[in-house]
Amino acid sequence: MATLYDGKMAAIYDAMYQTFIDYDEEFEFYNGLIQENNCKTLLEIGSGTGNLAKRFGKTNLEYTGLDYSLSMINIAKKRNKTSNFIHGDMREFQLKKPVDAIIITGRSSSYLISNEDVNECFDTVYNNLSIDGVLIFDFIDANRFIPFIIENQVITHQAQHEGINYLRESHWETTTLDNFMLEWTAQYYTLKNGEKKIKAEDFSTVRVFTLNEMQLFLFLNGFEIIKTIDRKTYAFDTYVIVAKKKPQKQKTL
Ligand SMILES: C[S@@+](CC[C@H](N)C(=O)[O-])C[C@H]1O[C@@H](n2cnc3c(N)ncnc32)[C@H](O)[C@@H]1O
Repeated sequence: MATLYDGKMAAIYDAMYQTFIDYDEEFEFYNGLIQENNCKTLLEIGSGTGNLAKRFGKTNLEYTGLDYSLSMINIAKKRNKTSNFIHGDMREFQLKKPVDAIIITGRSSSYLISNEDVNECFDTVYNNLSIDGVLIFDFIDANRFIPFIIENQVITHQAQHEGINYLRESHWETTTLDNFMLEWTAQYYTLKNGEKKIKAEDFSTVRVFTLNEMQLFLFLNGFEIIKTIDRKTYAFDTYVIVAKKKPQKQKTL
């Protein structure tokens, strides 16, 4: 698990990602897909610091956020006084009642690093969706990301929030582990008069996926893909998948 989402890092994350991600656009995108499928109740997995929650809170949708990090949830709660947030793990949770849509946003699927993680998550999502419910999520496309990190040893991103300039330097190492797992090291700096001051360092193992393997994971966990969208987010080429829960699951392998 990344330290990026704990303690003071959660606040740095929140500040930087306000620049990286256009949350209005992100909201319009996901809300459009949710409305297309006539959903009334919604769970957002990886709800983070609650930037989408803020926007969903203004719709008629019944919104719940779920996140693994208490620090992220605390920021989300301050931002959204009336929204409901659950502290939980996307691989194992039980809602009081099923919802019509579950979204996994902001490439939070990257933290499903083993096949077991992915299967547990999709199985849990299946069990918490109502009949005909939809799962909508994004993931980083391994076919484009891995060549990119091999060519670019250090990848920098800059952000500005409340008058402070931030700089992130990322280094991605491919691993000898199974699957397309990566060791991600990132240094977070503030920038003042051209000088950088280290604020924090984060190390995490993350996974990127090929479209084919995601299709198979979904098939095995009882989902039918109804839409695949090729989408560029701030630093990554991603796919977004909309998948409908089938009435019955496949027999497991
Ligand atoms: C890249 S952030 C995305 C946050 C938010 N969706 C956004 O776009 O700003 C990933 C989020 O996934 C959460 N996360 C990581 N592993 C998780 C797990 N197993 N279950 C639930 N949330 C998890 C982290 O705590 C973090 O808030």
